[in-house]
Amino acid sequence: MARLILYRSVSVATLLHFLLLVSTTTGLKPRLHRDRRNIRPNIILVLTDDQDLELGSMQVMNKTRRIMEEGGTSFTNAFVTTPMCCPSRSSMLTGKYVHNHNTYTNNENCSSPSWQRQHEPKTFAVHLNNTGYRTAYFGKYLNEYNGSYIPHGWRHWVGLIKNSRFYNYTLNVNGVRREHRDRYPQDYLTDVITLEAQRFFRTSKRTYPHRPVLMVLSHAAPHGPEDSAPQFSPLFPNASQHITPSYNFAPNPDKHWIMRYTGAMKPIHMEFTNVLQRKRLQTLQSVDHSMEQLYEMLVDTGELDNTYIIYTSDHGYHIGQFGLVKGKSMPYEFDIRVPFFVRGPNIQQGHIVPEIVLNIDLAPTILDIAGLDPPSDMDGKSVLGLLELGSSGNRFQVNKKSVNWRDSFLVERG
Ligand SMILES: *[C@@H]1O[C@H](CO)[C@@H](O)[C@H](O)[C@H]1NC(C)=O
Ligand SMILES: *[C@@H]1O[C@H](CO)[C@@H](O)[C@H](O)[C@H]1NC(C)=O
Ligand SMILES: *[C@@H]1O[C@H](CO)[C@@H](O)[C@H](O)[C@H]1NC(C)=O
Ligand SMILES: *[C@@H]1O[C@H](CO)[C@@H](O)[C@H](O)[C@H]1NC(C)=O
Ligand SMILES: *[C@@H]1O[C@H](CO)[C@@H](O)[C@H](O)[C@H]1NC(C)=O
Ligand SMILES: *[C@@H]1O[C@H](CO)[C@@H](O)[C@H](O)[C@H]1NC(C)=O
Repeated sequence: MARLILYRSVSVATLLHFLLLVSTTTGLKPRLHRDRRNIRPNIILVLTDDQDLELGSMQVMNKTRRIMEEGGTSFTNAFVTTPMCCPSRSSMLTGKYVHNHNTYTNNENCSSPSWQRQHEPKTFAVHLNNTGYRTAYFGKYLNEYNGSYIPHGWRHWVGLIKNSRFYNYTLNVNGVRREHRDRYPQDYLTDVITLEAQRFFRTSKRTYPHRPVLMVLSHAAPHGPEDSAPQFSPLFPNASQHITPSYNFAPNPDKHWIMRYTGAMKPIHMEFTNVLQRKRLQTLQSVDHSMEQLYEMLVDTGELDNTYIIYTSDHGYHIGQFGLVKGKSMPYEFDIRVPFFVRGPNIQQGHIVPEIVLNIDLAPTILDIAGLDPPSDMDGKSVLGLLELGSSGNRFQVNKKSVNWRDSFLVERG
């Protein structure tokens, strides 16, 4: 369990700026020596929107757990450096803390002209596209993305315009706007993402069998409006995983200012938290199904053994913790802790890595898998160096004593 220290809490006019130091007692960890530049694995990043770890959401994702937890390595201390959608997503794309890409909130600078000019030309997609990967993006991008352009680096682009929806949304499909209504399943975003991704992957492998694929599947679940597929809407009638020890624990005079003013919830709010937990878990059933379909496609195309899958979320969530009815953006574990799993060639199955890994590590990790050295201006580090590598014939030659892994990180918000 990580130890959290609220290091400094500053309030300047309407700006909030949290600095939080998170530490564990971990030792030295390895850096990789590898030469795998002529091996070109596929890379699939599956991203959910607002998926907690602390409130038990993974407990209802048995298929995903079988594929990623039993079939891969679980990072049990995974955090995001800013627990808010657009900042965290911008950090994932660039490998940088928000103070280095300047997207502090979901509004200002989110997908802005300065972001497009300064940072989007340096995302992991650009690096991989430039070195021969066939790159594709499906689903939610950045909250303020309005469909007026295709971001650099993505050969195939199916980007959701604006914030998460399950029905009644518009996609930018390779530069053309496509409206979706509310028929199930043909308009249900989770299913649309899954189908489009499968189609791209199969076509790509048929047409360019020797070209590696990078795909991002960026789901709306379990974000609001929490519309589940109809067959899942009766599930989890009495879900109670969100009733954690900090549920309705309020007020908190020893915490930062919002917490001092947040009182206990009323019964109507508590009933709402139960409904919300249930609906969020229901939406995740479609993601769980998507993971199984993705897996079956990889088996079917013979690509499973040459494909890395990473599963994570843009940040966590709270439902009643410290009396906060719902939301994110707080510097506490329920909001900053996320699921984080990696599976792929030579990645030990059923293994647990306790070191701290972050959203800013995704871009350097993806570059590392592709055999590229992360540029020096990325703040994150490849997590491959932390992997306990199984069987012989391992292409990651690890010297466990040779790398100094982090024991703290910055959580910031503006
Ligand atoms: C997941 O698996 C557990 C243990 O096998 C089982 O109790 C539970 O009902 C399953 N959950 C779902 C949503 O299928
Ligand atoms: C937006 O980004 C630009 C350039 O990166 C920076 O100068 C500016 O301060 C940022 N705006 C905000 C509100 O952070
Ligand atoms: C979309 O966003 C761009 C900046 O990325 C802006 O220039 C343009 O005016 C916006 N278009 C609409 C229709 O809002
Ligand atoms: C991908 O890389 C190729 C080769 O460098 C380049 O010609 C192409 O414009 C790039 N495509 C995108 C979408 O960035
Ligand atoms: C989609 O939009 C239509 C027309 O505005 C509306 O009647 C319907 O309720 C919406 N469906 C959902 C699921 O929001
Ligand atoms: C849910 O809770 C209600 C009321 O406590 C109870 O009657 C019902 O049997 C429970 N349902 C399940 C599936 O556990």
